[in-house]
Amino acid sequence: MDDRLTSADNGEIPLEQPLSILCVDDEDNILKSLSRLFRREPFRVLTANSGEEGLEILQSTENIGLILSDQRMPGMDGTTFLQSATLLAPNTPRLILTGYTDVHAAIEAINQGRACRFLTKPWDDGEVRQAVRDELRRYLMVQENIRLSALVTRQNKELAGHNIRLEEQVSHQTVQIRRQYDETLLLNRRLKSNYDAIILAFSDLMELRHHQIRSHSRSVSACAQRIARLVGAPKELSEQIRVAALLHDIGKIGISDLLLAMNPEEMTPGELREYQLHSVRGQTSVDSLEELREVGVLIRHHHEAYDGSGYPDGLADGKIPLGSRIIALANHITTTVSRFRGVDANDLTIRETLTRMGTLLDPELAGFVERAVRETFEGASRATGLAQAELAPQDLSPGMILSRDILSGSRVLILQEGTNLTTSEVITLQRTARNDPFHSRVGVLIPRTIPIGADFILH
Ligand SMILES: [Fe+2]
Repeated sequence: MDDRLTSADNGEIPLEQPLSILCVDDEDNILKSLSRLFRREPFRVLTANSGEEGLEILQSTENIGLILSDQRMPGMDGTTFLQSATLLAPNTPRLILTGYTDVHAAIEAINQGRACRFLTKPWDDGEVRQAVRDELRRYLMVQENIRLSALVTRQNKELAGHNIRLEEQVSHQTVQIRRQYDETLLLNRRLKSNYDAIILAFSDLMELRHHQIRSHSRSVSACAQRIARLVGAPKELSEQIRVAALLHDIGKIGISDLLLAMNPEEMTPGELREYQLHSVRGQTSVDSLEELREVGVLIRHHHEAYDGSGYPDGLADGKIPLGSRIIALANHITTTVSRFRGVDANDLTIRETLTRMGTLLDPELAGFVERAVRETFEGASRATGLAQAELAPQDLSPGMILSRDILSGSRVLILQEGTNLTTSEVITLQRTARNDPFHSRVGVLIPRTIPIGADFILH
């Protein structure tokens, strides 16, 4: 047997404090024999001549790993001593030494003194040493279990604390991320709004330069968006078409006033070449902006003809980008409507446009012409009946249709007759009324679905 105290499963058990055993016997020679027996063991041997002295030692000494007590002692007997020792050291194993014939005393010590085993006098050294080692091992394992349980309990508490702090951190970070997301969303909306405002400002700038085209670009854009929706164009392409239609003639800014005022049919070949460059100049002017690069391609090809007779590259049929074919159709419709002007302008425009299918325009778009014309230039609600009214700018609502052109106080065209007002156009009109006041009321046609005070209705 190894001299050290070891566990069969876990190897040597570490002794954090000096380990002792307590031997109690009223005979000095027995205590001396026991001390000698355990001389080489890795624990101290404490001795007491009586149960009372044994209890005093138990009270004043830590880490007593085993009690070995005689049964027959004057005064306090072994059973009584072990009973009291149970209160002071409940986890310490208790062994009783008794004579061969004293079976009754041994049973009493086990039952009442809660001794874990009894050894007989005279004893066998090897048996006693082995019994003490076994019980000390058990004691140390119990102590280790107590220590580990306390450690697990403490670590569980620390873990619970960490979890609470972690949850608080996650919750705090979630709130921060949510706030940052909302701020980003707001910034994106502002950026988009600024982007739209800049595109419209460019478009308006071009139209200030060329009064004849009035609010042509906005009408082309509205018509092109309707065609794109009818065709089922993807969202990204629809947005490119909207912007390209607004800016399609931006290249005309570089053309001289004289040339700009001329009809292309009256131009000399040189003047016509110069005029036709506006689609390439339009692309060049936006090409440096990565966001508008695809838009620039659509602008370049907005004068290509389906049969290949257009400019600047003479592309034909499917080689012309779909967005450019749609803008070409919307451009043609808008120009034709304003050329005809009058009650049957829309019908005449539809008829005239359909004759251009396969030559100037893409025949696959023919099926969308009538709806594009009527929805852009009549207003979708005409079929439900419209009331005519004269309103102050602050009383305008989206969905109303302008019954005449709106000019600012300095005579700049703001919106064209027939425009079906959107929210942003209502805001633009109201802002213009403040910045460059026009003195008359705004003439509108109002769908019956929009509520308005009866005083404003003309008929
Ligand atoms: Fe053009």
